Amino acid sequence: MGIRVLGIFVLLHSGVALTISKASGNPADLHKIDRNAFLKALPNKLAHAIEQFAHQPPSTLRSDPPCLEGDGVNVSDGNILRADRYEERAEKGRCDAPQGMWAHSRSAPIRKWKYAVMADVLGLGPTHTVLDWGTGCGTEINTAAAEYGFKAMGVDLVKANVAWAQQHNSNAKYCWTDPHRLPFPDESFDAVVSNAVLYHLDGLDNELQGVQDILRVLRPGGCGWMAWLGADHGDRVKQSDWNNVHIPGVTLGTIHEMSTLGRTEYKSPTAYSVLFCKDT
Ligand SMILES: C[S@@+](CC[C@H](N)C(=O)[O-])C[C@H]1O[C@@H](n2cnc3c(N)ncnc32)[C@H](O)[C@@H]1O
Repeated sequence: MGIRVLGIFVLLHSGVALTISKASGNPADLHKIDRNAFLKALPNKLAHAIEQFAHQPPSTLRSDPPCLEGDGVNVSDGNILRADRYEERAEKGRCDAPQGMWAHSRSAPIRKWKYAVMADVLGLGPTHTVLDWGTGCGTEINTAAAEYGFKAMGVDLVKANVAWAQQHNSNAKYCWTDPHRLPFPDESFDAVVSNAVLYHLDGLDNELQGVQDILRVLRPGGCGWMAWLGADHGDRVKQSDWNNVHIPGVTLGTIHEMSTLGRTEYKSPTAYSVLFCKDT
């Protein structure tokens, strides 16, 4: 079945009324988004920074970032909101099923589509080295890396996920990470993408510290996209909290996922993304 265009009008926070198409729920309906319309929905400065990133000359980051392995953490002791479930799911072999680290398999096609959206919007391609922070089973970044040709690295705090991802995915490399410190030297990546992870740090101050570490491993001019925030139980940080955040040397903004993308996992009505680019 083709895309069922409902032609709903959404008043975006930029004040631009934009027609978006809404898919019927069939995975085959997951279509490319209109990149220009997406950029118009962002604050002008952020849209400009993303365009600059997408059109920069090829990155000089051509070697694989070394992965500095740690000793591992007990996930339950790491002040990570509701993350012990990921160890349980990994032990139950959930990476072998479409649901991966999620509660329901119906999120699977949307997750893959979302990684493609991130790649399209950021203009990722063979000249980029990309980190997927909280990669889970690593399937989504692996598929996007194969399709878009960028060099990919996935990290997760659950060692069993990293082992599974290394064994089953050939288009990306994976390594374990401490939840509070990425195992890479400064300025190792052109872009950092992440879906359903940042909120596990639990609270705006902790999320800000997490983003500071992501900024550390991003090269100047690089961009990050933290998706599916504000949707899970216990996530106290709202989109409006992030709209009031100012980080020196960084251009930052948010999107409401259902309004701007037309869909998100479980159609979560409060899900939002935080996007940012580091100044050159
Ligand atoms: C809901 S899953 C999302 C997996 C994948 N990104 C996706 O969209 O399917 C969240 C993953 O983030 C990992 N995670 C949570 N907090 C993390 C942190 N601070 N650092 C690294 N990984 C983290 C969990 O172990 C889990 O595998």
